[in-house]
Amino acid sequence: MELCIALDLPSAQENLALANSLKEHNIWMKVGFRAYIRDGKPFIDALKEINPDFKIFLDLKLYDIPNTMADAAEEIAKLGVDMFNIHASAGAVAMKSVMDRLSSYKKRPLVLAVTALTSFDEANFKSIYEKSINEKAKEFAKMSYENGLDGVVCSSFESREIKNATSNEFLTLSPGIRPFGEDAGDQQRVATLEVAHNEAVDYPVVGRPIYKDKNPKAKVEQILEVIKNL
Ligand code: C5P
Repeated sequence: MELCIALDLPSAQENLALANSLKEHNIWMKVGFRAYIRDGKPFIDALKEINPDFKIFLDLKLYDIPNTMADAAEEIAKLGVDMFNIHASAGAVAMKSVMDRLSSYKKRPLVLAVTALTSFDEANFKSIYEKSINEKAKEFAKMSYENGLDGVVCSSFESREIKNATSNEFLTLSPGIRPFGEDAGDQQRVATLEVAHNEAVDYPVVGRPIYKDKNPKAKVEQILEVIKNL
């Protein structure tokens, strides 16, 4: 498992201070809506300046018509990030357009599809997708796999079943990780590091339990130690 930290703090300065305190660790940094909308490409460049071996996951969850998604994917590839994501519900044609467009890039970013947001409970999910989270997440994962994506974003609880339905190499990234059982916040399907490991999650994403801690650096090091010993 490779830890991915959500940089969701209120300012670039605070996010960069957190990244700076962790510069000796070659971990994944998740840049989401808040940071990217506010701070853009200079923020990505600043992270790489702190540590060129930080891996950057641009979490913009693309959802649009296929051509617009392919255009956006190409611009994301030019940013030099290591991973980004789209919504699986954009469909197979959009997935294929994105992967076709990236095929000319020698070193393209990994592409994941969001299956079900980890903030959904069953009732809210069903009111939109008309199926259970588990069933629909597997369906979306198979579609993503068949269209050449590298993996999916899912809760820890769907990860193993998704691998069984696709391939062990098909990547799973799971937000809603509460390493030591911390407060769930708005997340509905949360898991500890042990659960994520048992469910074969490749990338556990941790946000608030790190940046709301009194000592984020110590917390990250504690998490890395647990992961090493799993
Ligand atoms: O603070 P917390 O650990 O809950 O952070 C989870 C992060 O993962 C947030 O940045 C959230 O936007 C993101 N995310 C999510 N569920 C998804 C995809 C991304 O919570 N399905």
